[in-house]
This record gives sequence, structure tokens and C-alpha cells, in this order.
Amino acid sequence: MTMYDILLKKREGGTLSKEEIGCFVKGCTDGSIPDYQISAFLMAVFFKGLSREETFLLTEAMMHSGDVVDLSSIAGVKVDKHSTGGVGDKTTLIAGPLAAACGVPVAKMSGRGLGFTGGTVDKMESIPGMRTSLEADEFIALVNRVKLAVIGQTGHIAPADKKLYALRDVTATVDNLSLIAASVMSKKLASGSDAFVLDVKCGSGAFMETVEDAKALGELMVEIGAANGKKTIALVTNMDRPLGRGVGNSIEVMEVIDTLKGAGPADITELSLQLASYMIYAGGLAASPEAGYAAAQRALRGGAGLAKLRELIAGQGGNPAVTDDFSLFPRAALSVSVCADADGCVGGIAARDIGVASRRSGAGRETKDDVIDLSAGVILHKTVGDAVKAGDTLAVVRGNDAEKLHDAAAVAKAAFRIGPERTAPAPLIYAVIA
Ligand code: URA
Repeated sequence: MTMYDILLKKREGGTLSKEEIGCFVKGCTDGSIPDYQISAFLMAVFFKGLSREETFLLTEAMMHSGDVVDLSSIAGVKVDKHSTGGVGDKTTLIAGPLAAACGVPVAKMSGRGLGFTGGTVDKMESIPGMRTSLEADEFIALVNRVKLAVIGQTGHIAPADKKLYALRDVTATVDNLSLIAASVMSKKLASGSDAFVLDVKCGSGAFMETVEDAKALGELMVEIGAANGKKTIALVTNMDRPLGRGVGNSIEVMEVIDTLKGAGPADITELSLQLASYMIYAGGLAASPEAGYAAAQRALRGGAGLAKLRELIAGQGGNPAVTDDFSLFPRAALSVSVCADADGCVGGIAARDIGVASRRSGAGRETKDDVIDLSAGVILHKTVGDAVKAGDTLAVVRGNDAEKLHDAAAVAKAAFRIGPERTAPAPLIYAVIA
């Protein structure tokens, strides 16, 4: 069997066998299949789809493309949380510390920014000194000691996904249900936790734009988790507008700190509490999600979540003083304000456009080898439902490259829909699939 045969079969809408999928994944991992054939495969899958069975086989092959971590030396039910990617989604760095502060061992593997969405690893690297690549022994020791560690996907864990993830990002093949499910679940399963809480984003700023598609993705991932003996819960959540006020790496970490101090935006605070509640429940430390919510709320109000974030930062070599001194973060030299042209009310802020604006400002990658500007991004001064007057600042775009900022500001401005009437906010959580 050759890669050409596999491509031809998928291009014609055929169903790939276990051997063919295994051969493709092996070739991605050992480098024997060139990028142009992998990219062609991704595009064929994008147009022809994968069956449920093919998706399970792809997930399994990707999971076994590298190490499958053994976390059995960590006591308790290890819980991992994963988002399918959104704009301004910094909940991992809030829900993780809250759940860990309630005693849940959180062994978290995170990704980098993909497409117009941000990634937790990039955000964490805006903290001076922070290491996001730890060997398995150090990772396990940290979870045992602090109850929380957050690392990037190492070369040893699901390396096939690492290759595919980077190529999907630059070939417009990210938003496919099977490719997302296989990508997320192969990493989750290989990373060795016992339970997963998945945040399936839905809306204009997510890879899944409709509630129906997002639910289908959630159900598929919950099924894959269950088939592998892992407790898996998926929350389908709103990503029509950016989460919180900050989008961009250091900008988001500052918002994380404010939120753990009890001064964060309402949406990001509520979603983080909800995710933490399901993590605490999945970890067996609360009898119900409601009891988990109450515990997470106590950890937030009492400061235990913030203390846990400081421990996480120190444990991974970062400077925990950033939690009290934002001047320690990388600073942007330039900023451009985006102003309202007319009086009215903010009826919507297109999350995808704000994600694109943030990427253009330098906070995200246009190609897989781009170096990102950790200080760049967008700060929303107005949110959905706010009244505005002509000339009011809607958002500020920050960065270090005047041309990029000019471009980013135009995109950010177009993201705002301002109308005569106040619109009711859409729900934050559409469904919970368990
Ligand atoms: N997050 C992932 O880990 N993989 C995807 O494909 C999309 C979001």
C-alpha cells in the first residue's frame, strides 16, 4: 500500500482500513510521508469526512504514535481539562488552579495557538521564566506536590498529532469534526489522566459554529473517552463573542490573575467555576456538579485558587511575583484605539474577527514557524450590551509593529456590531454531555 493509494481512496470517498490509517499515522510520525501528501490527506478528509469507525481508528493510532504516559504513581483520580479552542479562552489557568485547590490532581497537557484561537502554552510562556516542557518524572512529581502542572505537548506524546496540528493550521483544515475529535482525544488518552472535562466551543469564534455541530463533536469525544474506559464530560459553551476582555498571551494571563482575585469579567468567572465544578465532580471530590461548584466558589473567594496559580508558576520555574506586579510581563511599545462611529448599543462582537485581529497584531501565528509577540493582542473596552457614544473607545490593540497594528485595528473595528437596541445576551453554556 502506498500513500498515493490511500489518498486516492479517500479522495474518492472510500472507507480506510485499520492498516491504511495505521500506515498514514506511522508515516506522519517517522517523517516518511512528505508534508504535501499529509496536507492532501487532510484536505481529502475535510471534503469526504471520516466515518465514526475511521475516527476511532485514527484516534487510537495517533494516541499510540508516541508514549502513553503512566500516571499511576499520582494518587487520586487525575483530571484533565481541554478546550476545542476559542478566543480569549483562558479558563484552563483559572479552573485548573480552582480544582487543584479543592484537591483534584490536575495533570494538564495544553496546546499552542491554532488558527485564530489562542493556546494555553503560548499564554503561559508570557510569564517570565515559565517552563512548559517538562520530562514525565518532573511532571508527575509536580502534580503530586502541587496537584497541578500544565505542560505543552512534548515530542513524545501523540507526535502524529503534533505534525498534523501544525499542518492543519496552515492548510485550512482545522474545522473538521473527526480531525478535531481525534486530535483532542489522542492527546488526552496518551497523557494518562483518568477523567476528562471537555469544553466544546460553539459559535462564530469556534471551529464548530452551530450548537448541533458542537454537540455532535462533544458526543463523539465522550464516546471515544468512554470506549477507552475514561470518565468524560463535555460542556458545549458559547463562543460567539470573545470570553472576557483580553485576547492575546500576556494580556490573558493578567486577566486570569484578576479573575482569581475575584475581579474578573462575569463570563470568564462563571465559565471557569462551571468547568472547575465538573472537574471536582469527575475527580470524585464532590457528590454532584452543584457541590463541586460550591467548592470551586469557596476556593475563588478564599484566595486558594490564586495561591495555587502562584504554586504552579513557581513549580514550573516562573516568577510568581507577576501575580502582584504586571510590569513583569512583556510590554507592548505601541497601541491603537478602535473607536465607535455612532451612538448605540453593542449588539455583538464577532469572536473570530477579534481572534484574527489579535493574530494580526502579532499574538498568533500566520505560519507554523512564526515567532509570536507575547505582549500583543486586543483589549475590549466595551462588551455586548454596553451603550456607546460616537468616539468612545471600543477596543485597544497592542503590539510592537505599527503596520500590523493598523491592520489589526481595522479588523477589530469590523468585529463590533452596534445597533439602536440592547440585545439579550446568549447563554454561556448550551449543553452538558456526560
Ligand atoms: N484542539 C485540539 O487539541 N485539536 C484540534 O484539532 C482543535 C482544538
